[in-house]
Amino acid sequence: MTTLTTTPLAPLLARLFDEADAASPMRNPAFAAVSPEDRAQLMQSKTGYRDFYAALKDYPLPVSRETGLLLYMLAHSCRARTIVEFGTSFGISTLHLAAALRDNGGGRLITSEFEPSKAARARENLTAGGLMDLVEIREGDALETLSVDLPDGIDLVLLDGAKGLYPDVLGLLETHLRPGALIVADNADHSPDYLARVRGTAGYMSTPFGEDVELSMRVG
Ligand SMILES: C[S@@+](CC[C@H](N)C(=O)[O-])C[C@H]1O[C@@H](n2cnc3c(N)ncnc32)[C@H](O)[C@@H]1O
Repeated sequence: MTTLTTTPLAPLLARLFDEADAASPMRNPAFAAVSPEDRAQLMQSKTGYRDFYAALKDYPLPVSRETGLLLYMLAHSCRARTIVEFGTSFGISTLHLAAALRDNGGGRLITSEFEPSKAARARENLTAGGLMDLVEIREGDALETLSVDLPDGIDLVLLDGAKGLYPDVLGLLETHLRPGALIVADNADHSPDYLARVRGTAGYMSTPFGEDVELSMRVG
């Protein structure tokens, strides 16, 4: 029996993933009309990310079901107590991570979201899942909200906000990571600078995992 696979969380996540499938931005003609090249450029942008995500504020854009399960398994198996997430959206990934904290005996998850309506949806979902007591939602740009008051000994990080900011956000968290900390970066292919950093420096071990995830570990 796990928090992830029992009521209330299991049916809640099933519903939220179904709703996300039905509300893909690709069903929006304006978004679908943007060429894949332009879309990739927007996703990587270090300046246009606010406009890009504001246009997508009604879409949950969650990690895949498989990545959600991976997040729970990684956080549970490393007995994570301290987790930081960049990019909350409606809280689907947050629910998986917080479920692992619950099954680890408790802990703290700091997550960051700059769209107020999304932060409100995440709060509702975390409350419905019975997990809000483990989560602190920091509203505002993660470049600011994750630059202060971070705990030491972070066990696990999920990077799932603006892809162009992955190296900057990692830079904010780096000195707070415990040796062996895991970093999961979703859609990391859209952040070549991030991949260069985690694959090319002595401070990390890193490997692509599944279709669109980069799994890295802080060394030493
Ligand atoms: C792909 S979605 C996150 C999905 C979520 N992790 C899940 O699986 O349910 C990315 C989210 O990051 C937010 N975001 C992007 N850049 C951000 C930033 N610099 N600071 C805070 N939030 C940001 C967007 O508004 C969007 O809701």
